[in-house]
Order: sequence, then structure tokens, then C-alpha cells
Amino acid sequence: MANASLNTEIQKRRTFAIISHPDAGKTTITEKVLLFGNALQTAGTVKGKKSGQHAKSDWMEMEKERGISVTTSVMQFPYADKLVNLLDTPGHEDFSEDTYRTLTAVDSSLMVIDAAKGVEDRTRKLMEVTRLRDTPILTFMNKLDRDIRDPMELLDEVETELDILCAPITWPIGCGKSFKGVYHLHRDETILYQSGLGHMIQEVRIVKGLDNPELDDAVGSDLAAQLRDEIELVQGASNEFDHELFIQGQLTPVFFGTALGNFGVDHMLDGLSEWAPAPQSRETELRTVDATEEKFSGFVFKIQANMDPKHRDRIAFCRIVSGQYKKGMKMRHTRIGKDIRISDALTFLAGDRALLEEAYAGDIIGLHNHGSIRIGDTFTEGEDHRFKGIPNFAPELFKRIRLKDPLKQKQLLKGLIQLAEEGAVQVFRPLANNDLIVGAVGVLQFDVVVARLKAEYNVEALYEHVNVSTARWVYCDDEKKLDEFRRKNQTNLALDGGDALAYVAPTMVNLSLAQERFPDITFNPTREH
Ligand code: G4P
Repeated sequence: MANASLNTEIQKRRTFAIISHPDAGKTTITEKVLLFGNALQTAGTVKGKKSGQHAKSDWMEMEKERGISVTTSVMQFPYADKLVNLLDTPGHEDFSEDTYRTLTAVDSSLMVIDAAKGVEDRTRKLMEVTRLRDTPILTFMNKLDRDIRDPMELLDEVETELDILCAPITWPIGCGKSFKGVYHLHRDETILYQSGLGHMIQEVRIVKGLDNPELDDAVGSDLAAQLRDEIELVQGASNEFDHELFIQGQLTPVFFGTALGNFGVDHMLDGLSEWAPAPQSRETELRTVDATEEKFSGFVFKIQANMDPKHRDRIAFCRIVSGQYKKGMKMRHTRIGKDIRISDALTFLAGDRALLEEAYAGDIIGLHNHGSIRIGDTFTEGEDHRFKGIPNFAPELFKRIRLKDPLKQKQLLKGLIQLAEEGAVQVFRPLANNDLIVGAVGVLQFDVVVARLKAEYNVEALYEHVNVSTARWVYCDDEKKLDEFRRKNQTNLALDGGDALAYVAPTMVNLSLAQERFPDITFNPTREH
């Protein structure tokens, strides 16, 4: 393919993920986004807890039982003149390190906030992760068809709690039963809301101009007057959209609407396709790789086992950083220094796995993995380097794992280390005893690990409580100081699955004390592969 058309393909890609607290509306907004992308005929098939119909993205048995999605699926669809990749981020009990790592594989994120609740816990955490790369963020204030908090107050809360400037692009007119629509500040038009049409792409009525008397007819003179006052206030008191600040992750454009009513989602998508960055360059330990370089490169951010019981394989999700994937091409697996021919990469359309002929920077491809691929691995067209910035994240939950049959200690360790390499969980081996501690970011991972140990390693294990509440990887350039630290903290030190030294703290207070007492030691909440 000529360079110009490669460039065109890459420039039209927009790869993003959704960050939100459970129940804020991520699944609903995904459905509507796919509806706009024509990926689904009628919105409503992503999830159907109540109807007993299962999401197209639910693959595993476990997911079916629980009605939630364990896997991070990838959905590609066209919107306007762009091709959008939406990477699903596991969110309820299925929240896991994969959720965090997916955020290292996107070029922008959409933050969905329940406008009745404001900024919630999970959103705070996910924002911290997007900050590692200063990913640009768009914001959707959801559930305007309910009684919500004062919009100004919501923006203030986002600004102060998440440390990001807000630039409202649309502004709501009423809420709950009297939600009338939004005023689009950039287009100087009011888009009117009709309830009960959430399942389809609606024909909307638009009133041009804020002073248009039609507006009074459409929303009532009280709400029209209130809107005019509020817009004056908003234009004076809030930030204007600044593309540069958005790209730097310092300012977020804010949209109001209702995902359930499929209202406002298209305004957000317009913003995404217009402002969100095309595939970005990435650092390797040797140089910066630009997305439009002709040669293929990519990195693995997630490994999924048994996505489909019919294919008992593992799939490595690879984000293409540069160039183009072509069926049958030779790729270099740079960690092991081997060239392999890839003829059967997969693409994902909400669960339908299809063989892929070609894909471009920004896209995600699935590589079959028989155990040789790990999280963080780099694939290139010959160049020997590795991408940075696909870390392990400090687990937030810990359990001691114990065998039912003590003779299988070796298999247990082998299984745990392999599962850790896949990124399912992390394993810590204390320096002071023979315990095995499993750490995870989300609770469901513990069950997944026991189920997989049994199915794949023939090991029956169970968990016990362990007095660990957080872990940090410890580093120090000064060997002597590190030795001293190691001697004095033997009981709180452990090696992880990759033999990196970690401080496992019984309490957050204990961690703070250790940090104070040993200022020369770096306590890192992430570890690079
Ligand atoms: P999540 O993926 O972020 O967890 O949220 P999800 O979309 O599942 O939405 C959580 C609940 O909020 C769902 O109701 C959903 O219908 C509702 N919801 C989402 N967007 C809106 C909105 O704009 N307005 C209103 N009023 N509700 C909204 P549920 O009854 O808990 O779920 P379900 O059983 O219907 O799936």
C-alpha cells in the first residue's frame, strides 16, 4: 500500500475506552454508541441481565452465570468520517487489572458520570490511571432524565476532585420529568429531547439561536429564561474548550444527556471524532515510534483465556502502534527474539471473532497464544525493541492461597506464575516464609484463578485471609541502602511472579511509615514489564 493511503487509514482511527463508576451507564452508552455506528441493529443487545439474553460480549461460562462481562471486548465501528475502536473496560465485580491496562492502550477516554451522584470512587481511581499517560478525556454527564445535581456544582466537583478543567460543550435545560434538551454552545442551537425514543436514532428538533422566540415555545418561557441566564453565567465563569489543553489531558469537554434516552450521545461522538487524537506515537526503550511509520509494531496489553469454550486457546490482545498488519506477515516477538508468521489474527466485533485480513495503527488484533506471549510483549517487523508503559498495577486485594493436596506445591507455583504473566492476578512470595499470596485489583479474579488452576493445572486450591492491604514495588539506585532496607523489613518483603522485590504492607499507615523512614527507597504503585 502506498504511504499516503496508509497514512489516511491511520489518521481516521480513534481508539478510546470508557471510564466510569458501576451503574453510571457505561453499558447503556456503549449500546447507543454502537447503534450510531450501525454495529447493532437495535440497541439493547450488549447486555440483558433482566431479559436473560446475554451480551454479545459475554464469552465465558462464568460471565453467563453472573450476567456480567469478564472480558474486555473490542468494538470497531465507523462514525462520521472516522473509524472508532471502543475498548470495553470491565466494570462491576469483573473490575480487574485488565481495566487499568486497557487504559494504557487507548488514545482517549470517555468519562461517564451519573449526574445525580457526581464523581464516585471508581472514577477517581481510573482517572489516576489515565494520568499515567495524560490521556485526553471527554465527559458525559448521564441520566438527565432523572433529577440531577446542579450542573455548575457537578463541573466544580470534577474540577476540584479530579484536577481537570471542564469546558461545557452542551448545557442542559431542566432535568427529570422536565428535561427539555440541551443547548449546544459551539453550534448556538438548542436540541430538543423527546422521551421514549432511546432505542433508535432520533430525528431531533433544533432551535437555532439562544434569543430565538421559538425557544420559549419549545421549552416554556421560564426554562428558556433560565437557560439564557445560565448560558451567560457559563460563558463568563467556565472554561472555553481549548484543543491543546484537551490533548494534554488538562481539560475535558463536557456533554449532558441521557444514555437510556439516547440523547446527547451523538454530541459526544461528534466531539470525539473531531477532537480526540488519531493513534499516538509510543516510546520504546530505544526510540519513539510514530503511528504512521510504515513498518508494523504493537504491544500486548491483555491476555484472555478460553474466550470461547470451542477454542480452548488464549488470545493476546495487541494494540497496533505503527504501520499495518497483513494476513500472513512475519512478526518479530522481541522478548524472545524469534520471528513468527501470523496468518490468523483476530478482530473483535462485540464477541464475534472474525479472521482479519488487515489492520492499522490504532486497531486491536488478537493473536493466538500457546503460552509464549506475556503482557507487555512487543511485536515488530524486525526491529528489536520493546514498548514501555504497559505496567503491572499494585493489587488492592490480597489472599493467601493454599493447596488442598500439599504435594502439588510445584504445580501451584507454576500455575500461579503463568497466570500472573497473563495478567490475571499477581503472586507474591514473602521472603520470610513459604506462603503464596495472591493479589488482585478486582474480587472476581480470585475465583477465576481457582477455577483455572483446577481446569488447566489440575490443582485444587483455596484461599485464606492474609493481613496485607497494599503492595509497592521497591527500588533504590544505592545497593547498600537497598540492602539495609531489605534487612530491616524482611517480614514485609516479597518477590512477585517476575522476581521483582515488593513491599507488602499490612495497612496503609504502615506503608506511609515505611516511606517516611526510608526516604531513599522508591515505593512504586506500578511495575514495568
Ligand atoms: P454500567 O454499565 O456503568 O454499570 O451501567 P448501565 O449502563 O448498566 O446502567 C446502570 C443502570 O442505569 C441501568 O438500569 C440503566 O438502564 C440505567 N441507566 C443508564 N443510563 C440511564 C439514563 O440515561 N437514565 C436513566 N434513568 N437510567 C439510565 P438497571 O435497571 O440497573 O439495569 P438493567 O437491569 O435495566 O440493565
